[in-house]
Formats: sequence, structure tokens, C-alpha cells
Amino acid sequence: MQKYIIEPIKELKGEIEVDGAKNGILPILAASLLSTEPCVIHRVPSLKDVSVMLEIIRHVGAKVERNANSLNITVPEIKDSEAPYKYVSQMRSSFDVMGPLLARTGLARVPLPGGCAIGERPIDLHLKGFKALGAEVEFGHGFVQAKADKLVGADIYLDFPSVGATKNIMMAATMAEGVTIIENAAKEPEIVDLAIFLNKMGAKISGSGTQTIRITGVDELKGCEHSTLPDRIEAGTFLIMGAMHKSNLLVKNVVPNHLKPVIAKLIECGVTIEEEGDDLRVINDGKINAVDITTLPYPGFPTDLQAPFMALLCLADGNSTILETVFENRFSHVSELNRMGAQIKIEGHSATIKGTTKLQSADVKATDLRAGAALVLAALAADGATTIHEIHHIDRGYNELEKKLRNLGISISRV
Ligand code: EPZ
Repeated sequence: MQKYIIEPIKELKGEIEVDGAKNGILPILAASLLSTEPCVIHRVPSLKDVSVMLEIIRHVGAKVERNANSLNITVPEIKDSEAPYKYVSQMRSSFDVMGPLLARTGLARVPLPGGCAIGERPIDLHLKGFKALGAEVEFGHGFVQAKADKLVGADIYLDFPSVGATKNIMMAATMAEGVTIIENAAKEPEIVDLAIFLNKMGAKISGSGTQTIRITGVDELKGCEHSTLPDRIEAGTFLIMGAMHKSNLLVKNVVPNHLKPVIAKLIECGVTIEEEGDDLRVINDGKINAVDITTLPYPGFPTDLQAPFMALLCLADGNSTILETVFENRFSHVSELNRMGAQIKIEGHSATIKGTTKLQSADVKATDLRAGAALVLAALAADGATTIHEIHHIDRGYNELEKKLRNLGISISRV
């Protein structure tokens, strides 16, 4: 098991670059299964999750060529409509291949993804959508199977604006007969970017980014070329890192609009955020006001930045509260932050953070991707060298993190 040893810093100056979005590229790789023609995708981050998704699409029939951070993917035929357990068990969003396989071959078999550290993570909304499109859905031997001779467009209302269900139903409906309407759809930027990619392939999708998405089925999809959108969660993590110190940090390659709720909360904390084209500058004199946060589906405050923001609020002047409304079990970082001298109490889905002046160095462990990021930020604000264990979680979603932090003069070593 690898671990990080991180030394604290006094101030933060310089610039740091944001890569293509993990949660943007994964569904796009799955969507490339929808066509027999080549799809060329640029700004592909070298993340663990991306490698897993590439293994899955290769298994079902994709030919993948990599050239630096671009991929050329061609799927002349689907050889196997079953995604292997050994890969799916490593990453929940493998389930994104369900919709494309069903649309392309009329059959998709994927191991049940199961829960993870942050929640039960059911797939009922995905399956409700596939059934509405006319698929027969069965469970057996740890797999879920969806089968249909022909998919037919339908009106589908989502009980919750699930990102995963919106992506899967949108991809399945691209080649269904007639029109599909997804009501109460997820509005995340990654959904919009996926719709842009699918429309480049010849799909007819309108309304992405709103709660009503309309898909008019087409007979077939062609190849296309696309660049992955910048990772708003990576960008948010770096902005929060800047806010935790006396700083003047430029976060490069960002879409500021995608970070509105985060920027608003940072400004409420007393931090200065300046827009410079596709970059955001965070300036702080080290003082942090306490604030209250409620996580919500986009455009609300992103649950993926809840843990990193909690690390910031540990240093705030006063008491803050965080209400987590998207996932039922996303406070596993609290006990680790409390090991570093934070004072956080949990009651149900709410956490109260009593601000303190300094965090203490300690041995802590990453329990999931964003919890791990929060511990890296906390370590930079501690009173000595901190050791973070189980950093494989962090590798799943932050590309070349050590190199980027070292370029800012930060002492971080992987052992
Ligand atoms: C995506 O997960 C992201 N993952 C998550 O990021 C992110 O936290 C989440 O959206 C919310 O923004 C990827 O894009 C790969 P959901 P997803 O379906 O699609 C419930 C990270 O750190 N639900 O919107 O799984 C579910 O249990 C990861 O990068 C159902 O009840 O999220 C949860 O409580 C973590 N039934 C809520 O909806 C369903 O069928 C949100 O889930 C589907 C979801």
C-alpha cells in the first residue's frame, strides 16, 4: 500500500493546471461503443479510472490507440455484451456501458455495481429508464441484464436528478425508435458535454443542462472528434487549497461558470477570487470566515467538494455546518480530520465544524477519492509532516497530483 508524506506550507504562490474531467471522460469512453467509426478524444487524463474503463471497452470490442493524452477508439463490432466483473468491481461508473451496449446490440450484461464508501448507490433509476424504453431487465448470478429487440422512445421521469441514470438513459435512447423525454434530468456540465459528444456523432439531443432532455432516435451514429471538458472538481480542490493559506494562486484551464456555487462560498469565507479568461486566481491573507454549506445536485454545491471544503472550514474563525443531501454516508473523512485535531461533530447528515487555528500532523488514511483530497489539503495546513495511507483512492481522480504540487514548491513524497 502506497502512502504520501506531506510537509506543511506557510504560503502558496504560483500556478497549477487542471486536466480533463474524470466524470466527463468516463461516459464519453462508454459512448464511443455506440458507433463503428473512429472517435478521437483529446485531453484524456491519465487516471486509474480511465484505465479501468479502457479495459472494459477493449473487452467488449474496442480498438484503442493512445497518442500522448489523446485516444483514437474504433469499435467495428461488439464482441461481447458482458462487462467483466474484475473491472466493474473496481469502479462503479463502469455501469455507464449499459446504455451504449443495449442501444448498439439490444443486449447488455453488467455485474451489479454494489455500494461503496459513500453510500448504497442503487441503480433503480437506470433500470426504470431501460424498462420504459422497452427493455426486459433481469437479475441473476450477480449480473443485471437488459435485453430488447427494439428500443422505443418514452417519457421518463426521474425521482431524483441522478447523473448516472441521466447519462445511461440518454445514451440508450440515441438509437431508439421515436422520441424520449427525460424529466427531472441531471444538469451537470458533464451531462452537457456528453450530449455535445453524442450530437457530434449524429445524435439528436436537445435540452441538456436543463431538467428536460429530449432525444430523437436515429438509425446509426458516426465517429467524431472531441476534447474533454476541464475537471471542475479538481479545479475546486485547488481553489480550496489556495483559500486555506496566505496565497496568490492561479488555477489554469477552468470553466468559471461550472464553479459558481463553490466560488460563492469561498467569497463568503472572505477569500478573493478573480476571473482571468480560462483561469481563476485565488488570493487570501490566511483569514477564513465560518460558513454553512448544503450539498445539492448541480447547480447546487457539489457533494464531491464537500470533504475538501470541510478541511478548509476546520481553519475557519467560528462554527460552520455542512449538510450532505446527495449521499447518505459521505462523512468518512471526519474521523480522520479529527485525528488531526479538528473538532467536527456529526448528527445524521449534518456535520458541525468548530474552527481551530492549526491542524496537527498525524497518520491518517484516505477512505475514498475526495476524502483523500481533503486529507492532502489538511496536511498542508498541519504543524508537521503528515502521512496519508491508502492513497490509491486519490490516484483514481487526481492526475499527476504530486508533480503539480511539487511545481508549487510543496514537499510531497510517495512511499
Ligand atoms: C456521479 O455519480 C459522480 N460520478 C460522482 O462523483 C458524484 O458524486 C455524483 O454523480 C453526484 O454528483 C461520476 O460521474 C463517475 P447519481 P453517480 O446517480 O452517477 C441516488 C467522484 O468523487 N441514486 O447522481 O453515481 C444515489 O444513491 C464521484 O468523482 C438512486 O437512488 O451519482 C445517490 O444518493 C463520487 N438510484 C444520488 O442518487 C439510482 O438509480 C446521486 O447519485 C441512481 C442514483
